[in-house]
Amino acid sequence: MSKKLIKKKDLYFPSKEFKKNALINKKSIYKEAEKSQIKFWEKLAKELFWFKKWKKVFVHKPPYFQWFTGGKINITSNIFENNSKGFEKIKNKVALIWEPEPVNEQSRTFTYAELYAEVNRFANALKKMGVKKGDKVGIYLPMIPEAIVSMLACARIGAIHVVVFSAFSPTALRVRLQDTEAKVLITADGYNRRGKVVDLKKNADEGMKDTKVKKAIVIKRAENKVRMKKGRDFWWNDLKKDQSDFCKAEIMDAEDILFILYTSGSTGKPKGTVQACGGYTVQAKFTGKYIFDFQNSDIFWSTADVGWITGHTYSCYSPLLNAATYLIFEGAPGWPKPNRWAKIIEKYKVTIFYTAPTAIRMFAKFGLDILKGIRFNTLRLIGSVGEPIDESAWMWYFEKVGKQSCPVVDTWWQTETGGILITSLPGIGPFKPCFTGLPFPGTKFKILNDRGRECKTGERGNLVLLPPFTPGLLRGVYKNPKRYLKTYWSQYGKKIYFTSDAAYKDKNGLIRVVGRVDDVMKVAGHRLSTGEMEDSISKIDYINECAVIGMPDQIKGEVPAVFLVLKKNAVEKKRFTEDIYKEIQLKVRKEIGPIAGIKKVFVVEDLPKTRSGKIMRRILKRLFTGEPLGDLSTLANADSVQKIKEVIKLSD
Ligand code: PRX
Repeated sequence: MSKKLIKKKDLYFPSKEFKKNALINKKSIYKEAEKSQIKFWEKLAKELFWFKKWKKVFVHKPPYFQWFTGGKINITSNIFENNSKGFEKIKNKVALIWEPEPVNEQSRTFTYAELYAEVNRFANALKKMGVKKGDKVGIYLPMIPEAIVSMLACARIGAIHVVVFSAFSPTALRVRLQDTEAKVLITADGYNRRGKVVDLKKNADEGMKDTKVKKAIVIKRAENKVRMKKGRDFWWNDLKKDQSDFCKAEIMDAEDILFILYTSGSTGKPKGTVQACGGYTVQAKFTGKYIFDFQNSDIFWSTADVGWITGHTYSCYSPLLNAATYLIFEGAPGWPKPNRWAKIIEKYKVTIFYTAPTAIRMFAKFGLDILKGIRFNTLRLIGSVGEPIDESAWMWYFEKVGKQSCPVVDTWWQTETGGILITSLPGIGPFKPCFTGLPFPGTKFKILNDRGRECKTGERGNLVLLPPFTPGLLRGVYKNPKRYLKTYWSQYGKKIYFTSDAAYKDKNGLIRVVGRVDDVMKVAGHRLSTGEMEDSISKIDYINECAVIGMPDQIKGEVPAVFLVLKKNAVEKKRFTEDIYKEIQLKVRKEIGPIAGIKKVFVVEDLPKTRSGKIMRRILKRLFTGEPLGDLSTLANADSVQKIKEVIKLSD
C-alpha cells in the first residue's frame, strides 16, 4: 500500500494506510461536534480523571465564562497515577528523552515512573519551602528536564507557574515576577547555546531585584561558577535529596489557575494570560490526541521552548497526558552543524515532528547536501506552528522531510487559546499549502469584516471565535480586567472573541491565516510587541519619537525595523545612523532579549499620523510589503510618506 498522500486537485488527503490507523479518521466527528459543541467537549472531559464531577459544563457571563464548573481535577494525576491508559501499563514506558546541546554529552531519559518520582520529590521540596496552593512560582529555565519537572511539581501542589523564556532579559523577567508577586524563582547556573554557556544565574540575579522573590532554586546544568546568595539561593539537588517520592496531588477546582503565561500585546506592557486547571487539561489532552495522533510507539518531538505556549502545551502537558514518548532538545536546531535537527530525528527515530516555518525555511536554505544519507523514514506526521507558512516552505517540508508520505498539520492557535484550534486532522485532511485547515471539532470560527458582516469565500476579514469558545481559552489577563475586555471582547462585543488575526476561507472551508491586524510582530515565530520595543527605544535621550514595524524577512517571516525622529539637538550633532543603530540594538537586547534584534533603522523627519496623532504603523509596514497604501488623505501629514519612501530607497 502506498504511503504517499493522495492528491486531488489542489488538496492532499492522508494515504489509505494512514487513515486506517489514525485515532480519528471519520469526517462524522465534525457533524457530531457541531450538533452540540458543549456535549462534545463534555464527552471528552469524561475520559479524564476528576476527583469530583462538574455541575455545569459551560457557564457564560460575558465576557467571562467557565468550563466544567464545580469539577475537581489535577492535571498531574491525569498524567501519572490516574492516566487514562492505566499507570501500571505506562510506568515503564519512556516519557521524556532529553538531548543536550553538546554532541558528546549523554542524553537522559525518564520513564513515567521515574518522572513521577522526580515530580513528587520536587513538589515536596517546594512544599517544604513554604510554597502553597495559589502561590506563584517563576520558572526561568532552558530546555532541560528540570523545566518539565518544575512545571509539573507546581501543578501537583496547586502552585501557579509563571514560565519566563530563558533568553528573555533580566528586565523582562523582573516585570513578570513583579506583576505576579512570585515568591520563588527556579533557575539554573547556565545552559548551552551554540557552543557557549549562557550565564542564566547572572540574569536571574538581576531580574530578581525589586521583586518579592524570597527564595531561588538553582539547577546545576553548566558547571558555571555562580554566586549563591546566602539564605535566598539553594541548589536543586540539595533541596530534593531527602524528599519522599510521593506527594499527594492537590485537589484543584476546574476554574483554579493552572498557570500564567505572559505574551505581547499592542501596548508596551506584556499581559499575563490566565489558564484554568480543568479546561486546559481537556484542551491539551485532546488536541494532542486528535492532531498528533499519539500512538503507543510514537516518538514525538516539538522544538518549541517551554518559555512559549507551544512549549507549555506540546513540549510538556499534551504528550504526557496522552502517555506518549517525547523529546526535548536543549540547543539550537542548526548547531554545531546545520543538520543537527535531522540527526536528532534519525538518532531517536522520531515519528512526529513539530516545528515553526522559520526553522523550516532555515533548513531549506542550507540545501539538500546537508541532508545526504538522512532518510527521515521513521517520520509519519509533521507539523508547523506559530506563523503563516508560505507555499515554498510547505512544499519543501512536505517533499524533503515528509517524503510526500506525512500529512502536514499546519496548526493555528495563540497563547490565549491554550491549544491548537485550527488545523486539518491528519487522518481526515484535507491539507493545502498555506491553509491552516479546518476549525477543530467543537469550535466555531467566523471571518467578519469591520462592520461585523460575515466575509464571503476568499474575502479577507477578522478571524473570530464564537461561543462556547473552547475549554482552553484564557480566563483573563492577570490583574487587568480592562485589558482583557478591550483586547478580546470589544471589537465585536462581549460575546465574540477577537483573535487579532486576518484570515480568509477557500471554497472547501479551509482557513488561511494571513497575519496580525494589531501591533504584534511574529519574529521567527516569536510573538513580540512593537509597543514594548518602542517603549525601550524611546528611553534613549536623543530620540523624539519612534515607530517599530515588522518588515518582511525571507527566513524569519518578519523582523523589526525602526523609524526614528531625532530631537533637534541630535540632528544638529549629525549623529551617524550606524551609531544610532548600535545603540538601539543594545537597548532592546538589554530590555527584551536577543530575539528582538533590530534589522534596520531609518532616521526620518516625521512619522505618518492621523489628525488625532496616532502613528500609522500600517502604512509604514505597507511600504515594504508592496500592498496598496490606501487613502492617505486622512493623514495629518501625508507628505511624510513620500519622504520616508526616499529614506528607505537610499538605505537599500
Ligand atoms: O498571528 C497568529 C500566529 O501567531 C499568533 C499567536 O502567537 P502566539 O501567542 O505566540 O502563539 C504561537 C503559537 C501558538 C497568532 O495570532 N500564528 C500561530 N500559528 C499560526 C499563525 N499564523 C498563521 N498560521 C499558523 N499556523
